[in-house]
Amino acid sequence: MTSQTSIVTPANPPRSALRATDEKSFAFTTTTVRWPVIITKIIDDVYKTRHELDPSIESEKMKEGIDIMDSIALLKYEIQRKKPLKPIDDDGEPDVNTWIEVFNKYFKEENWHSAPWLFTECYLYRRTHSIFVRTKHWRNYDPFFRQKEDTFKASFVAIIELAKRIDGLISNPSVQDSDKRILFHELAQISLWGNATDLSLLTNLSHDDIKKLQGNAKSLEESEKNILVNDLEKVWGKLSHYQQKRIDFVLDNTGFELYGDLIFADWLIQNGYASEVHLHVKAIPWFVSDTTPSDFNWLLGVLKNDFFSSASSNEKLYLERLAKRWQGYVDNGKWILKSDYFWTSPYAYWHLKEQAPELFSDISKSSLVIFKGDLNYRKLVYDCKWPTTTLFKDAIGPLATEKGAPPILALRTSKADVIVGLPEGIEERLSASEADWMFSGKYAVVQFSEGNQLN
Ligand code: F6P
Ligand code: MG
Repeated sequence: MTSQTSIVTPANPPRSALRATDEKSFAFTTTTVRWPVIITKIIDDVYKTRHELDPSIESEKMKEGIDIMDSIALLKYEIQRKKPLKPIDDDGEPDVNTWIEVFNKYFKEENWHSAPWLFTECYLYRRTHSIFVRTKHWRNYDPFFRQKEDTFKASFVAIIELAKRIDGLISNPSVQDSDKRILFHELAQISLWGNATDLSLLTNLSHDDIKKLQGNAKSLEESEKNILVNDLEKVWGKLSHYQQKRIDFVLDNTGFELYGDLIFADWLIQNGYASEVHLHVKAIPWFVSDTTPSDFNWLLGVLKNDFFSSASSNEKLYLERLAKRWQGYVDNGKWILKSDYFWTSPYAYWHLKEQAPELFSDISKSSLVIFKGDLNYRKLVYDCKWPTTTLFKDAIGPLATEKGAPPILALRTSKADVIVGLPEGIEERLSASEADWMFSGKYAVVQFSEGNQLN
């Protein structure tokens, strides 16, 4: 185990790193089973897009498509044969030097299993990006977009339900303060559980299953029991005194999760708890479903048009009203979209201030920074083997103690085998009956750190 006083680096996290060398770990399952499926889907996607091209006018793009499929297949081969990692090619992207530096400093001697899982998984998506970005015709192509679009379509029922819910809340401004507390809990939980419904899961579900996962009040009550630590009340204690403050979301997945996050952000603005919401998205396609700037714009766009063919004219009106209000927030600077390359860097968030000082000073101005989802949580706590009872503020290290560190709220459904801040006995109880409890997505944590803005 690494000593806490030694220097923390991507190769030396504050506790032993999660690695695929441990065959009982979720890192191993992900590396050997889940990645090959994800990579094969990329090849399928390029294949489909290539077949939609017109050979008489797009022959160069078609040729590049073949090269891409070859390179992606080679990547899959390297992983499956546990080949040594290699530096990212200089693809001219703004972050490429960071990747090359980190690789040369820490991972030159490592392979796909021996390096920390947090590095290999981020590196996989950066390698994939590099393959596309080095072409002429596919450099802005998102190989995950088709999956993102299909999944959003499948979420239609819950999308309409939430559009009606927020419409009702907004057209009834005379809500009592005690009701606002309940609504805060409800909307924060919609944003939380939106993260459980990730791509591979959703596409296999019926509309009824999706509806259950995505929102009605009764199922939220049931799901609340699966929140192992819930600091929402602490946050409400602060938020209810806020007027016209800035709130940030470090977003995770697009589609239904993003939609739920925006419903929450809408309510925060409408009730004066925030005057500005800063939305941080990923600069490149990332972990299949993460939100990029173009996903965000796409979502706002489809809510305005006839994307949901089965929607009644009444349902379309709800969506149009919502989309118009959201576009208004963007146009008048109430919602501000940001995509710093740090979020897709090889660094855990312990290094935020040192590696991205401008981003740190930017989020230091926020009254609350909400980190969504599993990967953000892994990066907050450095993806290592903390005892599960470690305090959240200890596990996020400098992001809790650094001068200017903002208040942080993590809304995370647990999909990897790292978790902190649990009361004594929880790990033992759950491990006795559910071997996969840490990574099944059934359980969640809602954890708050005060930060260090006053000093
Ligand atoms: O399911 C495992 C995984 O690939 C993790 O590596 C990662 O943390 C997660 O999926 C992505 O989930 P999320 O979209 O919640 O960050
Ligand atoms: Mg994600």
